[in-house]
Amino acid sequence: MNKGKQLFDRLNKKGRDFLGVESPVLGGAMSWISNHQLVSAISNAGGFGVIAGGNMPVDLFAEEIKKTQSLTTKPFGVNMITIAPNFTPQLDYACKIKADFVIFAGGLPPRDAYGKVKDAGGKLICFAPSLKAVDMHIRLGADAIIIEGHEAGGHIGPVSTSVLAEQILPQVTDIPVFVAGGIGSGFLMAHYMLMGASGIQLGTRFAASVESPAHKAFKEAFVKATAKDVQPCAKFDPRVPVIPVRAIMNDGFKEFTALQLDLIKKIEAGEISTRDAGLKLEEFWIGALRRAVVDGDVATGSLMAGQSIDFVKEIISVKAIIEEVNRDAVKELEKVITYIE
Ligand SMILES: Cc1cc2nc3c(=O)[nH]c(=O)nc-3n(C[C@H](O)[C@H](O)[C@H](O)COP(=O)(O)O)c2cc1C
Repeated sequence: MNKGKQLFDRLNKKGRDFLGVESPVLGGAMSWISNHQLVSAISNAGGFGVIAGGNMPVDLFAEEIKKTQSLTTKPFGVNMITIAPNFTPQLDYACKIKADFVIFAGGLPPRDAYGKVKDAGGKLICFAPSLKAVDMHIRLGADAIIIEGHEAGGHIGPVSTSVLAEQILPQVTDIPVFVAGGIGSGFLMAHYMLMGASGIQLGTRFAASVESPAHKAFKEAFVKATAKDVQPCAKFDPRVPVIPVRAIMNDGFKEFTALQLDLIKKIEAGEISTRDAGLKLEEFWIGALRRAVVDGDVATGSLMAGQSIDFVKEIISVKAIIEEVNRDAVKELEKVITYIE
């Protein structure tokens, strides 16, 4: 075995052992996209697929889990958005069936949520946008952390992946930390692993894979776009609780701008609360993403994508993506070793 591969195996051992996979490449949960088909394909290819709970009613969520179990015997996770109205029913179902891996995304969950997962014997992975959030998740029972930076697709935090990595990776060494946001290749995976990451999470690259259930037009838009085409949406007024979304710029952005300006007027007129305005904005994104992913409306739907889009050059299988990322990580580590020797 060459030295690059030996180093790769040593660096990713913690992530592999924790997830029970051959390669600690997580398929980031993506609403409307990360269903049984994509999740089982990622897990069967040696990575770690994750079902997107989104705001699915619990019966659909249960069905997705059952279908995934029928397609793979490999480990996979269930991702739930802590602020989604269906969070608690989804969580209770995941605990009832003793899901092996539960992932909390989208802010701090209710305090009892951590205990529910632990009591059911599941491993808990929490998204964290800051060192403070990491500390809190660990104190409350997280077994692993995903740090996701501003370069990512979908809803994003304000801090870049590289800054989160340099703050968090040297501090958190007891439990696995997986890095997400703007990662397109094994080149970057190798360097995050040298910095202490236990693995990486990819969203955009898998969204445009063969096994992704997204509409052909959605995937083709990913192949055509470049990193400069994916932008975060604007936020005009601090009273409107916009959680920025990164997506390929299109007319959907204009509709979001118009909606935001309308909500500002309504808040000023006392016609809507800021909380309800926030819900309207989230409803907009869920509907717009569905239009693009399911209906193929790439003009006005939302093409949520990360800056990693530059690495989507063609629509290839998840197996090919995972093999390529692993191969390039090993190649980069070999290069690092020759510098040192
Ligand atoms: C189309 C799309 C939808 C997403 N939906 C979700 C979601 O429902 N829940 C979640 O936790 N993250 C969501 N994400 C974030 C991904 O799970 C992942 O962390 C992110 O895509 C990583 O950055 P990358 O796109 O540069 O690879 C979404 C990302 C994309 C591109």
